Amino acid sequence: MRVLGIETSCDETGVAIYDTHAGLLAHALYSQAPEHARYGGVVPELASRDHIRKTLPMIREVMADAATSRQQLDGVAYTAGPGLVGALLVGAGIGRSLAFAWGVPAVAIHHMEGHLLSPLLEPDPPAFPFLALLVSGGHTQLVQVQGIGAYEVIGDTVDDAVGEAFDKTAKLLGLGYPGGPQVARLAEQGRPGRFVFPRPMVNRPGLDFSFSGLKTFVLTTWQQHAGDEQAKADIALAFQHAVVETLVIKCRRALQATRLPRLVVAGGVSANRALRAGLDALGRECRVTVHYPRPEFCTDNGAMIALVGALRLQAGQSEPLAFQAYPRWTLKQLTPPRATPSTLETLP
Ligand code: KG4
Ligand code: ZN
Repeated sequence: MRVLGIETSCDETGVAIYDTHAGLLAHALYSQAPEHARYGGVVPELASRDHIRKTLPMIREVMADAATSRQQLDGVAYTAGPGLVGALLVGAGIGRSLAFAWGVPAVAIHHMEGHLLSPLLEPDPPAFPFLALLVSGGHTQLVQVQGIGAYEVIGDTVDDAVGEAFDKTAKLLGLGYPGGPQVARLAEQGRPGRFVFPRPMVNRPGLDFSFSGLKTFVLTTWQQHAGDEQAKADIALAFQHAVVETLVIKCRRALQATRLPRLVVAGGVSANRALRAGLDALGRECRVTVHYPRPEFCTDNGAMIALVGALRLQAGQSEPLAFQAYPRWTLKQLTPPRATPSTLETLP
């Protein structure tokens, strides 16, 4: 089964073709980040307009790269949510329309399910079941994964997502957008131990997270040392250290509670090298294997959407003719792949 995947939920246009026998055949990514950088964050209307410009040319490009004609495609997968509604509607409209024109099924994919299963694109994919730590710009979740669509969220953030905390910290320190990679880069020049920030919620039982309080520590510390470039790097390091330790402590707790044999880490923040080092050490300590997507598939991409689309279509999922866009959509609402009655059958 060969599937075209389209991702347009935020400020990245991602397109890919995944084949259940041959694996990933081609993928292309266009990031609008430099355009939004001057506004300090994503401007939704600009994002939608740019997806309109980029999506179709990129589909042509990946079909050529994968030497795949439309007759060789068995389905089209598009991100249906969560995300910016205007941006989602572009991918959904194009994906659903192409599938209709080509006479193949379209499948609406949950963006976070894309991240969650993205390590399955790697040469040594994790088997089910596993514990997943999802760390992105909009989510920080611990998920017990039994199979495709069988997800139990056992830990969640009560306020900011971890990527959001990186982005806000970057803004407070006068760094650019997106902030995560910039904070990480600056932290490499930081001196350990000069500042120590709290590890939020680790003294309370449970698996939930809270990252909004760390901003206050960043802000007040930076106000006391404004203009001191070394202090800026030391703050970046102290912030990153607090985040990594908090995530490691909660993952340890979740692994002990669930006794799952594998840990999957995905989403934009899973590209963070300090986090990977912390979780790799935890893996050795708990004797579990730890799986990540390759760095380019940690952040948003079309490959993860094509992959999940192919897996769901292969498992027999079918979709109604309507296109779908859900700006708010939780992992808890997902179900394993199943056939739904197609409205095609009711057409004259
Ligand atoms: O998964 P993603 O591309 O988009 C969402 O689904 O939200 O994640 C983007 C987030 C941003 O907040 C970005 O700052 C963060 O991931 N990020 C990082 C790193 N690379 C991206 N955070 C920390 N360290 C990084 N190396
Ligand atoms: Zn994402």
